[in-house]
Amino acid sequence: MDMSNSQRIDAPRAVVWAAINDAEMLKKCIPGCEEIEKLSDTEMAAKVVLKVGPVKATFKGKVTFANVVAPEALTLVGEGSGGIAGHAKGSADVKLEEDGEATILTYQVKAQIGGKIAQLGSRLIDSTAQKLAKEFFSRFETELAETIGGLTPSPDEMRMTQLTLHINGREVTDEVETRTLLVEFLRNQQRLTGTHVGCDTSQCGACVVHVDGVAVKSCAMLAVQCAGRQVTTIEGLAAGDEMHPMQQAFHEHHALQCGFCTPGMIMSAVDMVRRHDGVLDEHTVREELEGNICRCTGYENIVTAILHAAEAMAR
Ligand code: FES
Ligand code: FES
Repeated sequence: MDMSNSQRIDAPRAVVWAAINDAEMLKKCIPGCEEIEKLSDTEMAAKVVLKVGPVKATFKGKVTFANVVAPEALTLVGEGSGGIAGHAKGSADVKLEEDGEATILTYQVKAQIGGKIAQLGSRLIDSTAQKLAKEFFSRFETELAETIGGLTPSPDEMRMTQLTLHINGREVTDEVETRTLLVEFLRNQQRLTGTHVGCDTSQCGACVVHVDGVAVKSCAMLAVQCAGRQVTTIEGLAAGDEMHPMQQAFHEHHALQCGFCTPGMIMSAVDMVRRHDGVLDEHTVREELEGNICRCTGYENIVTAILHAAEAMAR
């Protein structure tokens, strides 16, 4: 099955890009999506109930983000199984182009479907896929409009909104421009400058913080998407004067040189240890650090520190 289309979305490209990378947003927009979990910067696991003609099945699968050129393009590669109902695998090339203050989103989907659903015939599958895509974009626009508080403002009429969230355990309320990225909000408005910006392509990981306990790149998320949520930055990791075991391990194993990547490394590493229940090996640590770039250390000591910290955190 091949399908392509383009859609004009009434929001700036940075906002659309952030939304595409937000698991919560995708969960609300994908028709039939029951669960979606961000496994890493480039992987999500999803559970979706699909109905094609008379066949209804729950598909479980994984979506990987490839060829990421933020905030312009990415390829979503997915594979899922619905048991005896069938299986699907495919990819979608997504491009975002600026159109004034709006964004043109173009996608090209290639998919292969097997099993019982495939026997229903390509016409039914194609029309169902078109319907699902249409529904996805209509929800996506509605959710985006709600998130940014309505229509995108003109340049001389920046829309401000009041944002309340918890940062490092403290309730914070502040006025924020709706298009402000979380990293900008933390650094410029909250003066939490431990969260760094090392790129403009969402690749370096220097900006990683935790939102509701999960590591996210704060340059790929809007501040307003954190309303009512718990944000933890590197400044909130220690318990008073006592360093977090991950910070202690980085210190003891000399896992930094210039230190620019370190806050993001540490926040990603803490999330990694939690997700693996403290059971990590060198190969896993190296794979998981894919989204964090260090230009100085050669990674050796960082990996050693994370393995030691995993043991300390387990204790
Ligand atoms: S600043 Fe966020 S990934 Fe580089
Ligand atoms: S210690 Fe310098 S970039 Fe990692």
